[in-house]
Amino acid sequence: MRVAAARRRPVQDCVPAGAETTLPEAPHKKLFIKTYGCQMNVYDSDRMADVLALQGYEQCDSPEAADLVLLNTCHIREKASEKLYSELGRLHALRRERRGAGNDLRIAVAGCVAQAEGEEMRRRAPYVDVVVGPQAYHRLGDLIGGLGKEGERVDTEFPADTKFAQLPQQERSAPAAFLTVQEGCDKFCTFCVVPYTRGAEYSRPMDDVLAEARRLVSLGAREVTLLGQNVNAYHGTRADGGRCSLGELVRRLADIPRLDRIRYTTSHPCDMDEDLIRAHAEVPALMPFVHLPVQSGSDRILVAMNRRHRADEYRGVVDALRAARPDLALSGDFIVGFPGETDADFTATLQLVHEVGYAHAYSFKYSPRPGTPAVALADQVSETVKAERLAALNELLEEQRMAFDRSQVGRTLSVLMERNGRYAGQLGGRSPYMQAVHVDAPAELFGTIAEVTITSAGPNSLTGHLKDGQRSADAA
Ligand code: SAH
Ligand code: SF4
Ligand code: F3S
Repeated sequence: MRVAAARRRPVQDCVPAGAETTLPEAPHKKLFIKTYGCQMNVYDSDRMADVLALQGYEQCDSPEAADLVLLNTCHIREKASEKLYSELGRLHALRRERRGAGNDLRIAVAGCVAQAEGEEMRRRAPYVDVVVGPQAYHRLGDLIGGLGKEGERVDTEFPADTKFAQLPQQERSAPAAFLTVQEGCDKFCTFCVVPYTRGAEYSRPMDDVLAEARRLVSLGAREVTLLGQNVNAYHGTRADGGRCSLGELVRRLADIPRLDRIRYTTSHPCDMDEDLIRAHAEVPALMPFVHLPVQSGSDRILVAMNRRHRADEYRGVVDALRAARPDLALSGDFIVGFPGETDADFTATLQLVHEVGYAHAYSFKYSPRPGTPAVALADQVSETVKAERLAALNELLEEQRMAFDRSQVGRTLSVLMERNGRYAGQLGGRSPYMQAVHVDAPAELFGTIAEVTITSAGPNSLTGHLKDGQRSADAA
C-alpha cells in the first residue's frame, strides 16, 4: 500500500469554491464515469465531473460514446479492486479499436485503488493515461489537459483541505444530494484500508458545509446526506474558531429553508455522542434511520478488529438512539470470517442481530487487504466457512428487512420523489427509512415530498398511493 507524502503545488486552472463558473465555448467532449464503492465516491465522481466540465467535458452514457473514461475505484475488498483490472482490460481493447478508426480514447483512474497503487497501476496497466487519488482530484483538469505534453500523470497527494477549497461549485443537484463533510479515518480497524487510502481525519469548516448545502437546496435538493468515512467524528471549525460537532451541524442545517431531510453516514459507534443522539429527538428534519456498523457481536473479535467498543456498548448506543427517537430504524455492516472467528463468535453476531433488529444491512466475507494488520493474523478462516456464515447471516438479515418492510404496509410515509418509476405515470422515491417506494404520481411531483399510503411490500421496494390523492403541503 502506498500513501503519498503531503506536498502542495499551486493550482492553475481550478476555480475557487464560491466563484462564478462559466463553461468554455469549446466544442464539448464526452466523459463517461463509472463509480465503484461507497457514497463518498459517488460524491467525488460528481465533483470530478464539475472539474472536467471546466475543460469542456459533458457526461455521456457509455464508454463507446466517450472521449474520456474515468473509473472511480474502491479498494475495500479484493473483489472490488480486481473488478477494476478486468474493466481496464475491456477499455484497452476499446481504445485499440478506436485508435484504428482514428478516434482516440483517454482513460483515467481515480479513487482508492488509484491512491493505493499509484505508479504501480501505470506499470500494470500502462495504457492508463492519468491516475489521481481521492485528495488530489481537483487537479484532474490539469492532468488531463497536460496529456501529450511532458509532466506528471499520477497525482496521489494529500491532504483534503486543499481539494475542497479548489473545487468549482455545483451547477446542478438531484432532489437527494450527497455532501461530504468529513474525510479520512484515524481509527485503524485492523481489516480496513480506508485510513491508508483516504488519509487522516479531516473535517470541512462549518460555514463551507452550510454554504454548499444552501447551494444544493437552491439547485433543487430537498434532502442532504452528510458523508464521511467516520461522519460522526465531524469537528469542523466555526468562524469564531470553535469546533462544531455533527449534532450542531445538523441543527444549523435544519434552519435552511426547504432543506426538509437530513441524513448522515457512516457512523462509528464510539463517536455517537449525546448531542447527536439528542438531535434525533429534537430535529424533525433528521431522518429516523441510522447506518451504524458493528462488524461483529463477539467482544473477542471486536478487540482483534480494533473496533474500540464492546458489543454491549453498541447495544447501549442503539438503546439511546431508540429512546430519543422510538421509530428509528437501523442499518449495519457485518464482517464474517475475520481471522480467529469461531462458531461461538459467529453465534454472538447472530444473537446481536436478533436483539437489535435491522431494517437493512450489508454483510461481507472478510477480505484480507494488503498492508492491513489483520492479513498477518494466524487462524485465517476458510472460504467454505466464510460462505456458510455469510449465508446464515444473510438469511436472518433478509428476514428482518422483509419484516420491517411489511410492517410499513397501511402506514402513511413521506416520500421524496427522486426518479422515474417503472412505467409512465409512476414516480420512485425514498421513505424516511431509505426504502424504495413506487407511487402512481404525476411527473410534476418529481423533486417534492409527498405523503404516501403504503399498500404492499415487494422483494426490493414498497408500493403505495398518494394519500387521499393529495400531495403533501410542503410539496408546493
Ligand atoms: N467507516 C465505516 C465503514 C467503512 S468501510 C465504519 O467504521 O463502520 C464499509 C464496510 O466495509 C465496513 O463497515 C466493513 O463492514 C466492510 N469492510 C471493510 N474492510 C473490509 C474487509 N477487509 N473485508 C470485508 N469487509 C470489509
Ligand atoms: Fe475503516 Fe474502521 Fe475507519 Fe471504518 S472506522 S473507515 S472500518 S478503519
Ligand atoms: Fe471503497 Fe474508498 Fe469508499 S476503499 S468504500 S471507495 S473510502
